[in-house]
Amino acid sequence: MCALTVGVLRETATGERRVALDPGSMKVLCAAGRTVLIEAGAGTAASYPDAADTAAGARVAARDEVVAGSGVIAVVRPPDPALVAALRSGQVLIGLLDPFNHLEDVQQLADRQVTVVAFELLPRTLSRAQSMDALSSQSSAAGYRGGIVAAESFGRYLAMMITAAGTATPAKVIVIGTGVAGLQAIATCNRLGAVVTGYDVRPGARGEVESLGARFLTPSVAHGAGNGGYARAMTDTERQAQQTELGTMIEPFDVIITTAKVPGHAPPVLVAQATLDKLRAGSVCVDMGASEHGGNVVGSVDGKRIVTPGGVIVIGGGELAADLPTSSSQMYGRNVSGVIASLFPADVLVVDPTDEVHKNIVICSAGTITNESIQQAVAPTAAERIPEPAS
Ligand code: NAI
Repeated sequence: MCALTVGVLRETATGERRVALDPGSMKVLCAAGRTVLIEAGAGTAASYPDAADTAAGARVAARDEVVAGSGVIAVVRPPDPALVAALRSGQVLIGLLDPFNHLEDVQQLADRQVTVVAFELLPRTLSRAQSMDALSSQSSAAGYRGGIVAAESFGRYLAMMITAAGTATPAKVIVIGTGVAGLQAIATCNRLGAVVTGYDVRPGARGEVESLGARFLTPSVAHGAGNGGYARAMTDTERQAQQTELGTMIEPFDVIITTAKVPGHAPPVLVAQATLDKLRAGSVCVDMGASEHGGNVVGSVDGKRIVTPGGVIVIGGGELAADLPTSSSQMYGRNVSGVIASLFPADVLVVDPTDEVHKNIVICSAGTITNESIQQAVAPTAAERIPEPAS
């Protein structure tokens, strides 16, 4: 039987510098008897030249050859239309595929009997799933970058400085949304010497924030825990109350880093216009919730740095892990090889419908959408369907 071939492509999304496998993970896959085929130049932006891939045992090839010759295609971001069109029956696509926002592509791939594996659906609290948790590995890298980006843009010291020419007080930083990315942003700003505060609607977040030596700001909406350890979507009244409350609480801060996300919903706006208007000139907001679906800071644009008329710097940073491409790709590569080890005990795909990891992360196989939440998103229940007008 032929060895399983794992294909890696150059990412095509604007600003994306990561690659799905680094040479370290390629070496592990090759040692396990897999063949790795990588598109020429795929790792260059992450500082992994083709020569490093070859030294790790991979074969460098043209894009078309990688797509045509691989049983598994590993990507970082959702496939572009050309790749969706090129995938064929029997192939397996693995990545951070943002499936809820790409339902048509998912349906198309299912119809063509492509097996689709989306990291977003991994049950992250299972301890055996942690080596595959790409959301956490990338959020961690993004949170670290969030702290650095904020420090880079801030015109003052973050740390307290006592010099012959005078004393600088430390910067006050608030991190709103203290999941994986937020905690890493807190740790990074702490290391840079800032005085850091955390804020989250999940009551469990308090202990995690305080264990990093930061202060926790208790919101009035403090019962925001939803399913699976995530926050739930706020009601309109809660949202309004939270924006007003944050407007007053945020005013004294110099740096605001937001990471708040709610699975399946647009990110909540936490820094409203009235709040932004109150911030001092030179304050920095890093909005890590920013995406084409909106963000946590009003007016932020993903990937852009805006200065408000009042002199506040607003940075849209929805994909900050891409700005730490060498480390992010290294961690991501381990997540990808973890998934391959789980789904391919030998050279043939084995999806076990009783396995919690397989059941969730494999969103379609053998021509059917198998993940329940994706099924519901593709075909809303009768109650959710808009009724046909009476004729
Ligand atoms: P996320 O990226 O979905 O959201 C970021 C943070 O924003 C969360 O802490 C959330 O509570 C907060 N948030 C959402 N709406 C908010 C609002 N209106 N106001 C203030 N904060 C708001 O979260 P992430 O990083 O994916 O983590 C989600 C949960 O999963 C956390 O509890 C985390 O500890 C847990 N987790 C557990 C793992 C494990 O057990 N191995 C692994 C990874 C995550």
